[in-house]
Amino acid sequence: MLPAPAPVLPPGQQPGRPLTALAPMQDVTDLAFMRVIAHYGAPDYFFTEFFRVHATSQPEKHILRSIDENTTGRPVFAQLIGEDLGHLARTAAALLSHNVAGIDLNLGCPAPKVYKKNVGGGLLRDPERVGEILATLRAAVPGLFTVKMRIGFDDTAHFDRLLELVNTHHVDLLSVHGRTVKEMYRSEVHYDFIARAVAHVRCPVLANGNLTSAARAAAVLTETRAAGVMIGRHAIRNPWIFRQCREQFAAAGREHRPPPSPREADIQPAPTPPSAPLISIFRPTLADVRDYIQRLYRATQTPELPERAHVNKMKKYLNFVGQSVDPAGAFLHEMRRAESEAELFAICDRHLLANGAAEREFSPEPYPGVIARPNCETPNVLADGCSLETVTA
Ligand SMILES: Cc1cc2nc3c(=O)[nH]c(=O)nc-3n(C[C@H](O)[C@H](O)[C@H](O)COP(=O)(O)O)c2cc1C
Repeated sequence: MLPAPAPVLPPGQQPGRPLTALAPMQDVTDLAFMRVIAHYGAPDYFFTEFFRVHATSQPEKHILRSIDENTTGRPVFAQLIGEDLGHLARTAAALLSHNVAGIDLNLGCPAPKVYKKNVGGGLLRDPERVGEILATLRAAVPGLFTVKMRIGFDDTAHFDRLLELVNTHHVDLLSVHGRTVKEMYRSEVHYDFIARAVAHVRCPVLANGNLTSAARAAAVLTETRAAGVMIGRHAIRNPWIFRQCREQFAAAGREHRPPPSPREADIQPAPTPPSAPLISIFRPTLADVRDYIQRLYRATQTPELPERAHVNKMKKYLNFVGQSVDPAGAFLHEMRRAESEAELFAICDRHLLANGAAEREFSPEPYPGVIARPNCETPNVLADGCSLETVTA
């Protein structure tokens, strides 16, 4: 009997050009947020926040909504975090009865409460266990099986071994956040390790970590030769970033063809001719940002959520948005003091519409020194996972 054909990655929106993905983010990348992002320019791929896997776990209903009610037009991969082989296989099987593009394994979460259970980033200390998990999930997932990993736990001693395991177990797509677990979220990103992954693994690699703009994404693709980019916090700040990436890649006339893997060799899209059409890159104004905030507010509103709690939730997104509104951080400062919807939008109107602000450009990069709070480098606040309560940019 012939072996089953290898699963094929869903095509990107621009065949032959680099892929884009929204990074999975706990408490962020839910159905509402994915829809808002899709409105401003969807990435090629979405990933859910992680489904926790343990003896009594069932896929969380609110995360399932981002799969079952997906209207973005783009595929969603379901991410798992856990270490028990049987329960990982059981959960993968349960998720495969939903409309998922594939199953993704989290090998990166740096929250102490998570890694102390030897899941997420904690597993990077134990390549043998990673091998067992990859074997189990590969056997349980006939379709696409993907992995998102950091480059190590304390250091990168196991990195090459982990890459070998990715090959041994025929992982279909590897996203690499170029930091160790101990480096959390704000250190330099080691793009050289992403390049090393691209050179060693047979599947496409998505480069992740501090891709602040389309220009940075293009530069990192050149540096790493990755098949695409995965962007998290800077998509919260700038929901046009995936559209801008596509425009940037097209403007560069980029004929981007990562070396095909044996499994991919037959399915490489035809190369795009290296014509360099004059495509300009969308530059949002502060009025566009006002529109985004309004849309996000409506999308995240639920009957159960009291107004004050909703305003507080909005502040967590606006912490990122505010990094590009004004170089002094005045919008951030005032926004943090809003206590009602009316106050919040009055502050938005003052900073984003009044006195000629509406036509001002929203900075494509965060302004230096304008930091979202709280500081994610304070380990004890990162207790229970990765959430907007604790992780900033
Ligand atoms: C609020 C928040 C929640 C996150 N939750 C997850 C998660 O559920 N799964 C995961 O693999 N990574 C998670 N991450 C890590 C991101 O996917 C990404 O790897 C990291 O933020 C670096 O990319 P960036 O610089 O583009 O944000 C989270 C990050 C943030 C900021």
